[in-house]
Amino acid sequence: MQTQAQDIPKIFPQAEDFLPINGTDYVELYVGNAKQAAHYYQSAWGFQPVAYRGLETGSRDRVSYVLRQGKITLVLTSPLQAGGPINEHINRHGDGVKVIALWVDDATYSWEATTQRGAESCLEPTTLSDEHGQVVLSGIKTYGETLHYFVERKNYQGAFMPGFRPWNPDYRPSEVGLLYVDHMVGNVGWGEMNKWVDFYARVMGFTQLVSFDDKDISTEYTALMSKVMTNGNGRIKFPINEPAVGRKKSQIEEYIEFYNGAGVQHIAVATNDIIHTVTELKNRGVDFLYVPPTYYDTVLDRVGHIDEDLTELRKLGILIDRDDEGYLLQLFTKPVLDRPTMFFEIIQRKGAKSFGKGNFKALFEAIEREQALRGTL
Ligand SMILES: [Fe+2]
Repeated sequence: MQTQAQDIPKIFPQAEDFLPINGTDYVELYVGNAKQAAHYYQSAWGFQPVAYRGLETGSRDRVSYVLRQGKITLVLTSPLQAGGPINEHINRHGDGVKVIALWVDDATYSWEATTQRGAESCLEPTTLSDEHGQVVLSGIKTYGETLHYFVERKNYQGAFMPGFRPWNPDYRPSEVGLLYVDHMVGNVGWGEMNKWVDFYARVMGFTQLVSFDDKDISTEYTALMSKVMTNGNGRIKFPINEPAVGRKKSQIEEYIEFYNGAGVQHIAVATNDIIHTVTELKNRGVDFLYVPPTYYDTVLDRVGHIDEDLTELRKLGILIDRDDEGYLLQLFTKPVLDRPTMFFEIIQRKGAKSFGKGNFKALFEAIEREQALRGTL
């Protein structure tokens, strides 16, 4: 039986939560070469092939590969013709997240409720049908040129959605233990954070989870401000970052410059065994941020007892942080694109519900070393 959002317990009572969401449905990236991007996410990340659309399925203007691991579904889309909105998007932003799709029970209601509260529509409720049933899609705009789609699939049994056919290649590198999207972070421009915090509260009924100011997240050179918005059942968490004044250019400014505006900075994906997951990813060529070995000299003073062998964590450069409810293990990749824009976070939660605030200073110092190498600090 499919999950119905109203059955999922509300854990953040302060969220208005008029918009029931079951979880992240999929994340669509516009990319320059979807075939090669699909190979990368299969080979390096262990995503499994699910569905395809392209010339062979009657799609003349775009090709998409759908890949899945755990509950994480990626859609990689490239244009097939010159000109048009996908090319323009890639020209402006490089490869990046275009759609954060949310799994809902009623895509028509979701669209009506959010547009009535001020969201700008990008897709009116549309029913797509094939022999496997029907999917209702609708969509609204969020920061930059990023979109939220509402996906209602309770009457659909096919591989992904109408317009796609199953994709069953022989090539299937094994999964690496990724389970679900833990959170997705948006970078917005100077002074825009509160506008988008307000958007998620007012238009989508979310509430703010934690707050810290730029004194919390700063190094000698760079700073940012961040607020985390969550829906009522906690399945959707969107931290929003904006740059803060520092002595040199922050990583958020660098992102905004190369992405030409606001967009998704990182996708955090959860695992139950971060040592296994990160070992696999490193063996398959995924580059992670360098963490100075000295980080581990004092980390246990800060976080106390942990179950894992610190030697293993140090070898892999895995970061540790603790809050009132437990601890978490996390690690950030380098940008997965040539532009210094989007990256991934691998996270294993052991009780902690926060986002690794205690690691930010150590992390930013690591990022700044990378920025200095690129001449953009
Ligand atoms: Fe994160």
